[in-house]
Parts: sequence; structure tokens; C-alpha cells
Amino acid sequence: MTKLGIPGGTTINAKLLAWVDEMAKLCKPDSIHICDGSDREYDALCEMMVASGTMIKLNEAKRPNSYLCRSDPRDVARVEDRTFICSATKAEAGPTNNWVAPKEMLARMTKLYDGCMKGRTMYVVPFSMGPLGSNIAHIGVQLTDSAYAVANMKIMTRMGQKVLDLIGKDGDFVKCLHSIGAPLAEGQADVLWPCNPDNITIAHFPEDRAIWSFGSGYGGNALLGKKCFALRIASTMGRDEGWLAEHMLIVGVESPEGEKTYVGAAFPSACGKTNFAMLQPPQGFEGWKIWTVGDDIAWIKPGTDGKFYAINPEAGFFGVAPGTGHHTNANAMEACAKNSIFTNVALTDEGDVWWEGMTEETPAHLIDWKGRDWTPDSKEPAAHPNARFTAPVSQCPTTDPDWENPAGVPISAFIFGGRLSKTMPLVYQSFSWTHGVYLAATMGSEATAAAVGQAAIRRDPFAMLPFCGYNMADYFTHWLEMGRKVNNPPPIFRVNWFRKDANGKFMWPGFGDNMRVLAWIVDRAHGRKAAVESPFGHVPHYEDINWKGLDYPKAKFEELMSIDREDGVAEARSQEDLFDKFHDRVPPEFNNERELLKARLWRSPAKWGVKSE
Ligand code: OXD
Ligand code: MN
Repeated sequence: MTKLGIPGGTTINAKLLAWVDEMAKLCKPDSIHICDGSDREYDALCEMMVASGTMIKLNEAKRPNSYLCRSDPRDVARVEDRTFICSATKAEAGPTNNWVAPKEMLARMTKLYDGCMKGRTMYVVPFSMGPLGSNIAHIGVQLTDSAYAVANMKIMTRMGQKVLDLIGKDGDFVKCLHSIGAPLAEGQADVLWPCNPDNITIAHFPEDRAIWSFGSGYGGNALLGKKCFALRIASTMGRDEGWLAEHMLIVGVESPEGEKTYVGAAFPSACGKTNFAMLQPPQGFEGWKIWTVGDDIAWIKPGTDGKFYAINPEAGFFGVAPGTGHHTNANAMEACAKNSIFTNVALTDEGDVWWEGMTEETPAHLIDWKGRDWTPDSKEPAAHPNARFTAPVSQCPTTDPDWENPAGVPISAFIFGGRLSKTMPLVYQSFSWTHGVYLAATMGSEATAAAVGQAAIRRDPFAMLPFCGYNMADYFTHWLEMGRKVNNPPPIFRVNWFRKDANGKFMWPGFGDNMRVLAWIVDRAHGRKAAVESPFGHVPHYEDINWKGLDYPKAKFEELMSIDREDGVAEARSQEDLFDKFHDRVPPEFNNERELLKARLWRSPAKWGVKSE
């Protein structure tokens, strides 16, 4: 019996028992608890954290079975500069990843882990990424000294005894070691959010399929099933085994006639992915439904029928709270209405949570994410900009009936979106699979370069820049090859919701109106609508979009879709800078695609415009 005061799960898996034994000898916890994943265990963990002050139980009438946590202000986000891909050689990690030789990193981190769990419990957290037993799913086991991480893993994954039963005596799993790096000496009082900010290290060992995370208790640094396993390690597994691990949401689009079409869509972090995954069809789309399969990650495998099938490996949403509101995403609000954990949001006087953008009215008084009194006159926001809700997928009103189908859902189109105020039209379709892979690889978002006050483009190929577990040029090649593993690869689209006019105003309303673009994409995926060939790709005529319920003048649409030759050529040239980094590992097709793009632009009018039929 451990500090938790309840019995845990049991395992006969020899590899797991030996690894737990070895890591316990290194980390020296006071006790070990094997998680069975039961509600009783979850309640005991939360009660323990409430007693210690780490969690605050929210008002049961307003937010049933939910808790608030406040992190150390030095531990509030993923730390990309402390994230490493420790492949055998630096070339295998590639120029976009931090690399340290595996032997050196293991030696460095072994010193950090030595005695790091003293005074704490080591939790053994068995979890399945994907529906249990699905041929697309995989198993991991996380060892952690963070009760907060365990409670979040219970929501974010399928966790507990059923996973131990599945791996049985000799089943395999991905080893995920995690410590907050804050041992307690005999009699030493604990702090509310123990962590070790000076030594945060998130290391991945792709050849060993292992993750070592130290020093942070926050999000992607600590919930190792998410970015570490489901993207960085899984992308290498996918390369070796012939599948794809992508930073993609999955939605099903159902027409009034009952036709259901699933699409996978990749957007960089903080581009409204959760909103798109739970999109509310606007006026003019009566009878249409959007079904949510996932909001962040997709694992995609070619099926025996020659189509791609996708699952959401996660079981929860770890959504950014600020900006999520009743008026912008009522479905996400419903998903976190109960049985949820909130981190770094504000507390209301009624014992509920609040964050910027949740309601149109701002409460007169709050306790902010740092535990201080807050009023609308306060200088800092009440919630941290990266504050999160952890909520079960099953609680979202738009959750797809097939979201747990072990076979996955068939994918009919891929969408890639960036955040660009100039040059890029609202939507265009690639000419071919190869061209589509090129479009995905050249995705970008604007980041303001503070020094010069100018918008600079941060290339984020496939929205995977911080998440690809191997050389990104090899990842491009893998995508090219995957298109040949299915009968007829799905069409690929680029979208950009963020184009601005000459006065700096957004030209597209976004949110629910993105449905208008999605419906055209679905039509194209079924080969139904004609399109115009632009220098960038196939684009819709004004008449091909359903404008019912939105007053969007034709001239404005044509402006939104226009392509400036000079800007286009500059864009094509700057794509060269991205690929130069990879030297001769870049697939040769990419150089041809770029030359073709330049040639199409050179032969275009100075300002290319879409003409109606
Ligand atoms: C996330 C991210 O937290 O992409 O999902 O950063
Ligand atoms: Mn993400």
C-alpha cells in the first residue's frame, strides 16, 4: 500500500517489472504505485492534491468533479530549446531538431535522475494511444512522480489495468520516464507545484523508442503520451513501419443527405485547431453536421482497401483556454463543463473558472492564475495565455460516433493551413500528391520580428517543426512514398484564414464561416465541383462557394483569392532557404515543384485573379 492508501494494478510483464525495478533503483522513490486507472484511484489522487493545496476543488454545482491547478510561473509551456532528439547521429535528427548523442544524454540525465524521487511516490502509468487493441494503436508506460500528470493522463489516454492486461506477459510498450526533479528531504515541506526549471530536459531516443523527461510538470513536457510519444516517437515508428503520425485534427463532415466525409487538417499551434475540430456550421448550412474525431493528433495507416484510415490516439482535449468561449466554441465549453482539470486559469468568487474570451462580460473580481486578487483594472491577464483545460473527448457534443472505432475513419482529404496576412489566398488545391506534399512542406506562419517591426515567416512544415522525431527531409520523402501505398491518394488543400486587406483588417470572418471552404473541399474530394487553375493550385469560382447567410461581395472574394506575381515569386524564392538547410536530403521532386511554381508565376499577369465561369 502506498501513500494513496488504495491498492493499485498488477502486471506480470517481465520487461515492465525489470524496467520499473531499474528506474526505482535510480530515482529512489519512497513508494511505487501501479495505476489501475479506476475512478476510485483518480478520486484518491485528486483528494490528495486538494489536501496538499496543489488542486482546488471547483464549485460542484457549477463545475462538477473538476479542479483548478496553478503551476510555478517558471513552468508554463513546452520548452522547445530544451527538447532533444537523441538519434544515433546528428544527421538523423536533422537540422530542425536539437541533438545530443544518446550516450552523452543518458549519462547527463542519469545524474539528474539519481535520487530525484526521494520522498515521493513513483506512479506506473500504463496507457494506450488509440482504442485498446486497435491495429493503429500503440502502448506506452509512463513512470512519474507527479500525481498531477497521472490525473491528466487518466483523461488524455486510455489508462490502467486494461492496458496491463493487454500487454500481458511479454507485450511491448514505449518507455516514458518522467520526473519533476524535486526530491524531498526527510521532513521537508512540499511546494504547491514542485519542478526544477533550471534543469528541464525533454529527451527522445528514437532507436530505443524511449522518452526521458525531467524538471517540468506542465503539459507536453509531462503528459508524455501527447507530443513526446504520439508525435516525436510515433513519427519514427511510422517511418519504419509505413504509417503517419501527424499534428492534425480529424473531422467528419455530414451533409443533409447523410453523406459523411472525413478530413485531416494540420495547423500550427495557436491557429484555432480546436475551433475547427468542433466547427459550428453557419447560417446557410442547415442540416449539415461537423463531427469531431480529434483536435490535435492523427495516426494514419493505409487500409487493405487502399484508403487511409485515421484514429485520434488521445482520449482527451488539452485545449488552450483563453479565447475559447461560449460565443466562439460552445462545443469546447460543453466538453469542459464537468470532469475536467484546469491549469493556470482564474478562479471566480463562486468557485468556478474564468479566462479571457470565455464570456463577453468580465467578472468584477477574480483570483488570477498566480493566486492574486484581480479586477478588470489589473495590468496582467487573469489567466496565463497558455492556460489549459483537460477534458474527456466523450463530453464534446460533436464527438463522432465512430471516434473509438478501432479500424479508424477513412480520410478523403488533407488540409494544411498557416497564418499569413499576405500573398496566400483563402484556399487552393494541389495539382497532384507530390505538389500537395510540397505545399504542406512550405507551410508557414507570421511571427513579428520585434527588432525590425516586420512580419517574418516561420516555416512550419506540416505543422510538425517541433514534433518531427527525425530528419525532416526524410519525413518529406516518407510522405511522398505514403501516397504510393494507397490506391488514389486523397487531394491536398492549403487554406489561409488570416489574409488582411490594405488597412490591416482580416478579410475572412473565420470560425463557423470556414465551413463554406470546407464544403467546397468536400465537393472537390468527391470530384463534384469545377475549379480554376491558378499559379498556386486549383481555386474555386465565387459561384462554387455557398454564401447563403453571409454577405460577402464577389469583388472582395476576388481580392481575397488574388495572387500578386512579385509576392508569389518572392515566396517561391524564400522557400529555397527552408530547403537549403537539408542539403541533398531534400526529395528531388521539391526542386522541380519550386521551378514549376516560379514558371507559372512568371507567365501570369502581375495580379492573377479568379474569373467567374
Ligand atoms: C499543443 C501545441 O499544445 O501544439 O497542442 O503546442
Ligand atoms: Mn498541438
